[in-house]
Amino acid sequence: MNQPDLSVDIGGLKLQNPVMTASGTFGYAMEFKSLVDLNQLGGVIVKGLSLAPSKGNPPPRIAETACGMLNAIGLENVGLDLFIEKKVPFLSKLKVPVFANIYGTRVEAYAQLAERLNDVDTIAGVEVNISCPNVKEGGVAFGSDPLMAHEVTRVVRSRYTKHLTVKLSPNVTDIVQIAKSAEDAGADAVSLINTITGMAIDIHTRKPKIANITGGLSGPAIKPVAVRMVWQVAQAVKVPVIGIGGIMNADDALEFIIAGATAVQVGTANFVNPGATMEIVQGIRRFLEEKRVASVQALMGTVRTG
Ligand SMILES: Cc1cc2nc3c(=O)[nH]c(=O)nc-3n(C[C@H](O)[C@H](O)[C@H](O)COP(=O)(O)O)c2cc1C
Repeated sequence: MNQPDLSVDIGGLKLQNPVMTASGTFGYAMEFKSLVDLNQLGGVIVKGLSLAPSKGNPPPRIAETACGMLNAIGLENVGLDLFIEKKVPFLSKLKVPVFANIYGTRVEAYAQLAERLNDVDTIAGVEVNISCPNVKEGGVAFGSDPLMAHEVTRVVRSRYTKHLTVKLSPNVTDIVQIAKSAEDAGADAVSLINTITGMAIDIHTRKPKIANITGGLSGPAIKPVAVRMVWQVAQAVKVPVIGIGGIMNADDALEFIIAGATAVQVGTANFVNPGATMEIVQGIRRFLEEKRVASVQALMGTVRTG
């Protein structure tokens, strides 16, 4: 059998394989350059960006939980100007598509970020984060209301010509409705899920384990929720769905693809095993060879529910 075809199309943009890095867990990629052959990845999504630099939330911002972690980083980042000046030169050397994950407290801030990034050749697309649970304004406030999700997507679309993914929150009653709103407003793809709002308390001090009180749960603990949501959304929209949530190895990634994901993002696993992304690419290839499946494409959405 010929080598299986790992390439996927995430809405007009071809990736050499379906494995991307999840925003906020892979820095600006340069932090992983000695640990990962970045050019073997499907794509790189960098830390969430806002117009102005942000220090994020006060510490402690991370707590380990059973099969996962809670974080309330609060979108600490260098801001757009420093990103372009200091981070883009390294990213421009990569041969794989690089995506900026953008975040604003107002619709206009998303639009301005997108407009400026439109002129940055290195950035192949934006992932619009309307799902951060750890910031007081914006974020999940946009992602939990179908009308707001539509409005943010529509405005970014009108000012951005390249690839546009909208990243969805699981902290909603009906994620399918939000996904449809993003699709209607012109998203090329939807990615899901961001973290699930959670809380952990130190019983001795009776204080929350993170200063923000609540945080976003990620890691293996959230995978079944994420697979369920990807499966539901993939049936309801025509645009590609990018699956995220607790992907630690190739089997996890394959589960999302079988549920209907076109591509996947690997997040918390990067903290546990910095080489996880490359191992997942190799594991997917091995699985296709063993099962004699010609391509990732042939596996997508093949879950046997009937
Ligand atoms: C420490 C940390 C920082 C994160 N920062 C961002 C971010 O800046 N923007 C964003 O859209 N998602 C962010 N996320 C969410 C992840 O990209 C991902 O959606 C989530 O962690 C679920 O995937 P996982 O279980 O593989 O980690 C962050 C997650 C973690 C754990």
